[in-house]
Amino acid sequence: MRIEGLKKGLFPLAEKINPERLPLHVAIIMDGNGRWAKKRKLPRVKGHEKGTEVLRKIIEFSANIGIKYLTAFAFSKENWGRPEEEINFLMNLLRRYLRKETKNLKRNRIKLSIAGDREELPIDVQELMRKAEEETKKGERMELILAINYGGRSEIMRAAKFMSQEGEFTQEAFRRHLFLPHVQDPDLLIRTSGEQRISNFLLWQIAYTELYFTPVLWPDFSEEEFLKAILDYQGRERRFGRI
Ligand code: IPE
Ligand code: IPE
Ligand code: MG
Repeated sequence: MRIEGLKKGLFPLAEKINPERLPLHVAIIMDGNGRWAKKRKLPRVKGHEKGTEVLRKIIEFSANIGIKYLTAFAFSKENWGRPEEEINFLMNLLRRYLRKETKNLKRNRIKLSIAGDREELPIDVQELMRKAEEETKKGERMELILAINYGGRSEIMRAAKFMSQEGEFTQEAFRRHLFLPHVQDPDLLIRTSGEQRISNFLLWQIAYTELYFTPVLWPDFSEEEFLKAILDYQGRERRFGRI
């Protein structure tokens, strides 16, 4: 079936997608930037640069095919353990991204939300995040969630703390204290680069998410690879414990 918003013939796999069974929320662990660069004898940061371009492309594509929520893991709490130069580069890339992409997101009617412990980030980055969220808040085509300084355990601890202050101990009360309570759980989680682990990503939210692992390194990921993941997802039967 044809997906609205896609030029015919541009992505052959798109013809095979069932638009009625699209995953509404796709989460991605964008991994393999460093290895991509190493293979080309380039510094690791070149992989991060290329990775940012790929993200931009996948965001636009997702909105075009009708994905409603796209969550991308951009920086984990554990990533502070990397060399200072790499961390500085990543923070600068984030600054550049927020400065440059906000107007594109707005024009594409994509709402940006950040998930993570933002108080631990440089003040100017926090301010850029606040501005980008404010400027894009009316976007209704898709919501883009960037997970930055994000850790699943930390999000759970935080929610547990707020929940105990309120004194209502239910899953619904817990959920209200997640970073983004209005966002439904991911239907599909993609991890690139061949690693088959969660690395402290959305621990609470992925209880019934379909997992898809691909050896493709993030800077080599493409619209066709994305469609492959969606096709694989559409071939699965989600039982949620039933028969
Ligand atoms: C993912 O690529 C990007 C971030 C974690 C910021 P990596 O930098 O982890 O690349 P590899 O895994 O070392 O190849
Ligand atoms: C996960 O990738 C974090 C992001 C993609 C931002 P890592 O490369 O940090 O994870 P590990 O170390 O392989 O588990
Ligand atoms: Mg990695």
